[in-house]
Amino acid sequence: MPDDLIPGPADPSFVANAEPLREPPAQPDFQQVVSARYQRRDVLRGGLGFALSAVMGGLLNPRVASAFGAGAGQGVSSRLGFAAVPVSSRDAVELPPGYRVQVILPWGEPLCGDYPAFSARNGAAEQAQQVGSHHDGMHFFPLQGSDTDGLLVINHEYAEPRFLHAGSAGLALAVHDVPLRADGSRDPDQVLKEIHAHGVSVARIRRDAQGLWQLQRDARNRRITAATPMQISGPLRGDPRMRTAWSRDGTRARGTLNNCAHGVTPWGTYLACEENWRDYFVRDRGPAPVTLTRYGVEPMDSWRWHLAAGNAEEDPGQFARFDASRRGESAEEDFRNEPHAFGWVVEIDPFDPQSEPVKRTHLGRFAHEGVIFAPAVEGRPVVLYSGDDARFEYIYKFVSSRPYHAALADGSLLDEGTLYAAKFASDGSGEWLALAPGKNGLTAVQGFASLADILLNARGAADLAGATPMDRPEWGALDPENGQLYFSLTKNKQRTPQQTDSVNPRAHNRHGQIVRWREADDDHTATAFEWELFLLAGDERQGRNLQGDPLTLDNRFSNPDGLWFDRDRRLWIQTDISDEDLNTRGWSSFGNNALLAADPDTGEVRRFLVGPRGAEITGCVGTADGTTLFVNVQHPGASTGAEDFAHGRLQSYWPDGGPAMPRSATLVITREDGGVVGAG
Ligand code: FEO
Ligand code: CA
Ligand code: CA
Ligand code: CA
Repeated sequence: MPDDLIPGPADPSFVANAEPLREPPAQPDFQQVVSARYQRRDVLRGGLGFALSAVMGGLLNPRVASAFGAGAGQGVSSRLGFAAVPVSSRDAVELPPGYRVQVILPWGEPLCGDYPAFSARNGAAEQAQQVGSHHDGMHFFPLQGSDTDGLLVINHEYAEPRFLHAGSAGLALAVHDVPLRADGSRDPDQVLKEIHAHGVSVARIRRDAQGLWQLQRDARNRRITAATPMQISGPLRGDPRMRTAWSRDGTRARGTLNNCAHGVTPWGTYLACEENWRDYFVRDRGPAPVTLTRYGVEPMDSWRWHLAAGNAEEDPGQFARFDASRRGESAEEDFRNEPHAFGWVVEIDPFDPQSEPVKRTHLGRFAHEGVIFAPAVEGRPVVLYSGDDARFEYIYKFVSSRPYHAALADGSLLDEGTLYAAKFASDGSGEWLALAPGKNGLTAVQGFASLADILLNARGAADLAGATPMDRPEWGALDPENGQLYFSLTKNKQRTPQQTDSVNPRAHNRHGQIVRWREADDDHTATAFEWELFLLAGDERQGRNLQGDPLTLDNRFSNPDGLWFDRDRRLWIQTDISDEDLNTRGWSSFGNNALLAADPDTGEVRRFLVGPRGAEITGCVGTADGTTLFVNVQHPGASTGAEDFAHGRLQSYWPDGGPAMPRSATLVITREDGGVVGAG
């Protein structure tokens, strides 16, 4: 171990790659929980306390007339054709009988360029040509409609420095600690390796005659990292608040950060979403604009990339840009505006390796989880939905100004339109509030003189408009048959009893819920909707299915995160119990993170897969024929404590086995009989 490396002190502003804390605005809905919707409820079941009873009684009760279609009340689903996998805390991937799993594309796999071999001693240059770390949202783009050959595009949300750097062995490093040198600086190659471990991978993969998937050496294989140059598009392009010493006209930016979930456009491009980007920036202690403070950019950061000295001639500001302090006379002389280049949705064309990614600013700036498109209809606007994954933040939708025409459609459709934020009423209705100049109180007097003002501070605009602060909106999914939307609300331990409402009904919400809604007249451009809770996560005491029945040994789960509908309308639910809660008191009955499948008609839920220790399960997506499911295992071993790390006792050695460091990777799941994954 190099003796000039010491662990960085724990940073009090950093909470496990999680969400900035803020107080929610006053909400008139909070005290209106006894509504007509509640009063018509039936008697609840089970020995619950009153507050939970009020929630369970109606929203999850089959005897209440539902706007969500037939089937409620039928508890047994023919859609789920596999045996439930038990809760497990083993360091392994568990699947139902009759299924098999292959691990592909682990962190460090040679991907492009010179295809440098993986080694614990790799530096920044190798990492830029290898698969990144912390696999998250993902999509399979088939080549020529194939179910066995395509481009797998994978988000790399972040990295774990102690696993990334060979020099970390033997140090008492916790999950998010970064190694500092004795003089308090950071090693530039280590920082650059971390920068290159972030971003997106494009990987051509193909199934061979033995049924195994292999990475192909292909010109489209590509790494996009936290340093890749990108265009700024939409209303913020060229805005004075986007100008930096690197992009003096405010039209470009370097890199994408903390790409959590994703989206796929109707014209076949990939959208990578920027979630907890604020953790990478530090600012001075002076007065700061609301576009930093409302987003949690503080005088302390977590990654300390700004503490590495860059090569001034080769790449001026490549590390200094993560310090947003005012140093120059104007914004063109420092990086005060660098955090304004993050919090966006980034469009990537996976089929053109020369294409420059584009940050689409009309989709709003926040901690984007993912993007879910409504089905594109010829001649109609393009509509998409997106969540802001932080406590008390909002669900948004975007409706394009211009109509969709398949022959002409491209990303410019995302540059003009209207952004809305969701308001959920306690009677089961909902409203989309336009975040546009002059609408919903958004005026110059309030600090929103222009569309750019609104989009750069979308959170502040949604506050003012009166949107409903949610329990951390994560992924969404769209039912392919009826267009209904499902969103995970993963948890919110900080919601007080006074802050509960009908869609976020539990105080100190530790387990989360899934909400679904239906747009008025099933028109995705509508400004009204009807909603209900689909699932309350938890164990047998706290968890409830659509029928209002307790969850069971076969389906108890906590902290829903990833969602995806397959072609047969199975709703795949992935969990992300945080590494600090996983397998601890309060969560021990859930075991490791899991993948479950639900039937949207009957509400039945069943556990399909359990992941290795310390990992989150995410990224679930399948081939069009349903026979192959790709699933990501993110951050195995993250639950390892600092002392155990120092002594080489890791919670996980997956997938290579001890004593190798754990690696995030992609699972390929198939049936031994070649049938449709999840079906009977
Ligand atoms: Fe990156 Fe909201 O999970
Ligand atoms: Ca997530
Ligand atoms: Ca996570
Ligand atoms: Ca998450």
